[in-house]
Amino acid sequence: MRYKGIIFDLDGVICFTDQYHYQAWKALADEIGVYFDETINNRLRGVSRMACMDIILEKSEKTYTQEEKVAMAERKNGMYIEMLKQMSPADLSPEVKETLDTLRAAGAKLAIGSSSKNAKRILTCIGLGDYFDAISDGTNISHSKPDPEVFLKGAEFLGLDPADCLVVEDALAGIDAAVAGGFDGAGIGEAATHPQVRWKLERFSDLKKVLD
Ligand code: BG6
Ligand code: MG
Repeated sequence: MRYKGIIFDLDGVICFTDQYHYQAWKALADEIGVYFDETINNRLRGVSRMACMDIILEKSEKTYTQEEKVAMAERKNGMYIEMLKQMSPADLSPEVKETLDTLRAAGAKLAIGSSSKNAKRILTCIGLGDYFDAISDGTNISHSKPDPEVFLKGAEFLGLDPADCLVVEDALAGIDAAVAGGFDGAGIGEAATHPQVRWKLERFSDLKKVLD
């Protein structure tokens, strides 16, 4: 096994909470009359809640105060948390669980590296609350992806060097973060198109290629 540790993004990699982020931002954007689509949504992947707010407001003709932006981001988070209530262990795909188990059995330590402040809530919803060896998330960082902080903390929590860890991401900003931190990156979805990705994944179980 070439990696001692594997650090997984959460939203859009372990589970499909990215669709709920999209729906909640779309509802907020509609409320305030701002154009929002899937292409803009892809720029929100891996990016902190307030940085997402700023990206969405690029299309706004109105200027908002910081207090108004914080209030709108909190409103979006409230809608998002309501959507998360529908989630259960049925939202963890057998393919993802089986792949994680296989990587762990091959000797890898497994961590989460997510910009989300809701990461632990989501992991509990899908039945992975106690599964990972370490969790680095939006509650322990000051800079979100593309800054490498969340992955550097994840490696530190595992007691490993970045050079011994693989980062798995669906966000271009996440692969930028991995490369900046000295990690190999595996990309799924849009992240598979990143020029510096080490492993291109068509599906999650393709991660087993790293065992060869
Ligand atoms: C990342 C998502 O995982 O978490 C981003 O890809 C999101 O889209 C970020 O903005 C922060 O999430 P939260 O749950 O703290 O608003
Ligand atoms: Mg993601």
